[in-house]
Amino acid sequence: MEQRLIDKVAIVTGSGHGIGKAVALRLAHEGADIIIADIDIKSAEQTAREILDAGRKATAYSIDLANVSQIQPMVEQVVDQFVRIDILVNAAGIAQTKPFFEITEDQWDRVLDTNLKGTVFCIQAVAAQMIKQIPEEIRQAGRADKSYGKIVNFSSISGRRGRALQIAYAASKAAIISITQSAALALSAYNINVNAVAPSVVPTGMWEQIDEDYSRILGKESGQSMKDFIEQIPLKRAGNPKDIAAAVTFLCSCDSDYITGQTLNVDGGFEMD
Ligand SMILES: NC(=O)c1ccc[n+]([C@@H]2O[C@H](COP(=O)([O-])OP(=O)(O)OC[C@H]3O[C@@H](n4cnc5c(N)ncnc54)[C@H](O)[C@@H]3O)[C@@H](O)[C@H]2O)c1
Repeated sequence: MEQRLIDKVAIVTGSGHGIGKAVALRLAHEGADIIIADIDIKSAEQTAREILDAGRKATAYSIDLANVSQIQPMVEQVVDQFVRIDILVNAAGIAQTKPFFEITEDQWDRVLDTNLKGTVFCIQAVAAQMIKQIPEEIRQAGRADKSYGKIVNFSSISGRRGRALQIAYAASKAAIISITQSAALALSAYNINVNAVAPSVVPTGMWEQIDEDYSRILGKESGQSMKDFIEQIPLKRAGNPKDIAAAVTFLCSCDSDYITGQTLNVDGGFEMD
């Protein structure tokens, strides 16, 4: 396989588990060194070991992305250790499946803080570093000549339309589409590409919990809610974390230099807008 990311440095949030982990492994496979930033440090260390075994550098970093004060110190530590940052993938996220009338303010805040504040303030801190890496004369001219960084965010099919049982999660994933456009505009003069992916059903720890909650609330057997969603996917199968990682890797590579502000459905055709 062609290695498109030789010696790039990438922070992948939420890469202790699930899709983020698949992204971290694929970016490493393409030649990048990886910072695995996750609230679950044990899983982050496991991902780091797998990347080290594959011959790339990797560091596990313990962080709660809902706590904005932890983000800038992470970026500084990464720069101390790796000198630069070329790629940021904001994969960390939490879902919540609850009847509309039962959502509390604390639950709303936790979902929005993790999924939105985590993404926005990681972009802010990492993009500031990416801009510092642009040669002075090019930065002064205000028009960069080539891509100086790649940022990929995580939306969802739940960001494309409302969800009666996931008001906070759907709101957060809809906002990611807007944040991706705003950040792409704010960073366009520096030629930093900002895009997002929107998966459908990928059987990870997150979806196991969603299925359990949906099935309990709707009185279905365990596993039935996931099957019902998959039934609506035109390609008639769930996504694999590697399907999403392939699209994210494309958006992190020079093959996507002329793409910014987009949210790419990687969903087996579930959404077509
Ligand atoms: N699985 C799907 O079908 C699906 C569909 C659409 C979108 N997504 C999105 O893809 C992304 C990855 O989802 P996944 O299915 O792999 O989930 P997952 O639960 O398997 O993994 C999420 C990771 O984020 C980490 N994390 C959670 N809260 C954190 C915090 N506050 N700070 C730092 N790390 C934190 C977890 O420890 C975990 O490693 C999420 O943004 C999710 O919303 C997933």
